[in-house]
Amino acid sequence: MAKGKSKYICSNCGATFPRWYGKCPNCLSWNTLVEEKITNSKKGNFNIETEAIPKPITEIEENINLKRLSTGFRNLDEALSGGFITGQVTLLSGEPGIGKSTLLLQVASNIAKTGKKVIYISGEEATNQIYLRGKRLNALSGNLYILSETNLEVILNAIDKLTPEFLIVDSIQTIYSPRLESIAGSVSQVRETSGKLTEIAKQKSLPTVIVGQITKEGSIAGPKILEHLVDTVVYFEGERGQAYRVLKIIKNRFGATGEIAVFNMTSYGLKEVEEPSSLFLSEKPQNKAGSIIFPYTEGSKPILVEIQALVSKSFYSIPQRKTQGVDINKLSIITAILEKEAGLKLGDKDIFINIVGGIYIKEPAVDLPLALAIASSYFNKPIPSDIAVFGELGLAGETRSVYYTDLRIKECKKFNINKIIAPRFTDNNDKEVIKVSNIKEAINILFP
Ligand SMILES: Nc1ncnc2c1ncn2[C@@H]1O[C@H](COP(=O)(O)OP(=O)(O)OP(=O)(O)O)[C@@H](O)[C@H]1O
Ligand SMILES: [Mg+2]
Repeated sequence: MAKGKSKYICSNCGATFPRWYGKCPNCLSWNTLVEEKITNSKKGNFNIETEAIPKPITEIEENINLKRLSTGFRNLDEALSGGFITGQVTLLSGEPGIGKSTLLLQVASNIAKTGKKVIYISGEEATNQIYLRGKRLNALSGNLYILSETNLEVILNAIDKLTPEFLIVDSIQTIYSPRLESIAGSVSQVRETSGKLTEIAKQKSLPTVIVGQITKEGSIAGPKILEHLVDTVVYFEGERGQAYRVLKIIKNRFGATGEIAVFNMTSYGLKEVEEPSSLFLSEKPQNKAGSIIFPYTEGSKPILVEIQALVSKSFYSIPQRKTQGVDINKLSIITAILEKEAGLKLGDKDIFINIVGGIYIKEPAVDLPLALAIASSYFNKPIPSDIAVFGELGLAGETRSVYYTDLRIKECKKFNINKIIAPRFTDNNDKEVIKVSNIKEAINILFP
């Protein structure tokens, strides 16, 4: 390490400080300051030889060598806007045991079976363990190379020698650079190793997938910079004890975000689900209060999901509020709106919400169906199975329009759900779309 002074950079907000703090004075997050040595440069601030000349955008040549690499899964290719692209660095994260290594080994073998050299680097499992999984998944191929290694320099050497066409690193938190003193998984190590791997991926035009572990709060472990650094961020999620897995594109520099692909976990590995809507609705109870159909979408592919609410008398001084698949704060807001704008008395009721199928829904279009599912359980009146609902709710109980209206309506019709309750300003003239101005009006229509 070059001699010089140190500065401390917050890996969350990027602010710099002359000394270390346990809590970043700027963004107030804990343990995010990382030491960085300032190397002594020559006199003067700039070295004129390192000058670069910017070009007008119209004079930049298109890179015709950018190619899409198919993953062997049609839905995954579609979600990735056509497959992995040359030099693309993708971060895949998800709960422990959700199936990240399974998915990547299948993708690796699909690519290897097309004659391309693939290297799968695992810092978590021994080669024999990966072999056994490969055998179970029918993912053995002479072009698929496995390396069980955690030292970044050994890994970079191996990549250099093998010249692969696709690289997998599972997981970034287990890889360390011997140049740094901190342990693998620390902020500075993750920053260094992911930075170096990204550099190599760009230099060699090598599509790369890096697995990132997540914290118990559900965000990607390590510095926020990891998500900024990579081109694409993918989450793999699902419900414990259920076989469905949903892959969601959170960020993509080479395509659309919000795209999803649904899989089924079997003993032979992940299988694509062609009609996720019918799968998610297959176990919906008939004529039961508290259940509602919501056409969910954050990208080009809508899915009909069932939202369940259970409202019951509370036997605690503070009523219980629990959610699965949506943010608990959203439930608090919706409950307050229902109390104030629709007159429901929920103060002494326990409320439980479940999004069936294990999808975590962040989009605001879930507000109205969530409110109506709660109302349905509260009144103990079922919502007919041929009705679907979507729309955002404002704090005054007013409905607000959302994106992808036509896609949602089309998906409902495909499954013979012909009545759709939607926000008032929805841009669609279908006669069967019932437009409502506020939550009260929606409740009056469904529970007269
Ligand atoms: N023989 C089997 N039959 C069916 N499913 C299996 C079998 N073996 C493993 N699985 C499934 O694979 C999952 C583990 O997958 P995998 O190891 O790919 O997850 P991961 O996300 O990489 O986990 P980690 O975070 O621990 O690395 C198990 O939770 C289980 O659902
Ligand atoms: Mg794994």
